[in-house]
Amino acid sequence: MKPSILVQIPQDNLKSYPIYIEKEPICNLAAKLDEQTAGRRRLVVISKKVYKLYKADFNFDKNELFILNDGENQKNIQNYLKIVEKAVSLGLSRKDAIIAIGGGVVGDLAGFVAATYMRGIELIQVPTTLLSFVDSSVGGKTGLDLPKAKNYVGAFYQPSMVFINLNFILTLDKRQILSGYGEVLKYAFIEASCKSDKSHLLIEFLSIAADRILDNNMNLLERLIKICLELKISVVTKDETEGGLRKVLNFGHTFGHALETITDFKKYTHGEAVVCGMVLAFDYALKMKMINQTYYNLAMDLIEKYGFKKVYDYKYDKAKLLHIMKYDKKANQGKITMILPNKKASVVECEIEDECKLMEQI
Ligand SMILES: NC(=O)c1ccc[n+]([C@@H]2O[C@H](COP(=O)([O-])OP(=O)(O)OC[C@H]3O[C@@H](n4cnc5c(N)ncnc54)[C@H](O)[C@@H]3O)[C@@H](O)[C@H]2O)c1
Repeated sequence: MKPSILVQIPQDNLKSYPIYIEKEPICNLAAKLDEQTAGRRRLVVISKKVYKLYKADFNFDKNELFILNDGENQKNIQNYLKIVEKAVSLGLSRKDAIIAIGGGVVGDLAGFVAATYMRGIELIQVPTTLLSFVDSSVGGKTGLDLPKAKNYVGAFYQPSMVFINLNFILTLDKRQILSGYGEVLKYAFIEASCKSDKSHLLIEFLSIAADRILDNNMNLLERLIKICLELKISVVTKDETEGGLRKVLNFGHTFGHALETITDFKKYTHGEAVVCGMVLAFDYALKMKMINQTYYNLAMDLIEKYGFKKVYDYKYDKAKLLHIMKYDKKANQGKITMILPNKKASVVECEIEDECKLMEQI
């Protein structure tokens, strides 16, 4: 099988792994997973909804399954322990594998189990949402949420391979598809910061092809997924553990995570929260004259084109939101840091000096 993309991480002993982007029937994917794990034990962590939809295609042995209930609040320490116990009960050794099948919730949680079980066991990622196609299945961030702190426990741990099958999108509901476009838009707004040539074509591509993309045109979708992943990989291969450049991938996330946290992970999808965070960053950057009105309008038009009107309804306690942002992993000694736009398709990391001005935008 020829990979669609080969990821090579220089900092990680030149570790490399293939990403396969495919449009074949899902049952072919099942055969590939069998082939990859032949002769070994495996634990399959799968989203409940995905299991219900695709159990006939996969035909897994029930014993090797951990079926995870759906929802962000399942990405917790209790489920982490249950999955580890399941791995122990199956007798998984370091030579065996964990397969994560689902959206980012399953991928992050099963990935963290793989990173920590016996100090590391093979992880195969099978993303099934648009968001996990373009973002969470690649790059090696794994982890779980604490009740009041998103992604507070985790590890950087790369998968051994990633199978992206576009057919999964056909059963994804509209809200979850749009949520994935939240992260796609993020790539458009950070594109020039990800690469050395500083070019930026994604904003135009998303704008010109919006109708066909939103109509699930598979060829365009495949192209889009490749563009997003190549941008992510170009960042992650230079900075695997977020010492510097990788922070640009957090555009929209400081406020987005605060919103998810203040609403107990129930009100917003991750992509929606990230879009709210990006809108706040654009509002603040405009106020601080970091960007001009023309770029601001272009960004807001694109956000609206992809179905995000004002998803954030401004009803939360502002001081509490600021407090959560100060405890974000990216905060620096109690100072909020945010990734802010500074020109077209470009962002910079900024420490927020004037919290009052930021508050005015919330
Ligand atoms: N590790 C990373 O680098 C990274 C990056 C971005 C986001 N994330 C994390 O990813 C998570 C969000 O991921 P998500 O948006 O995929 O959400 P999700 O995993 O909660 O999935 C969303 C919903 O879609 C359903 N679903 C999944 N695949 C389906 C399919 N093919 N058909 C029908 N329904 C399907 C799920 O059951 C779930 O109800 C968050 O926890 C976020 O923090 C991680």
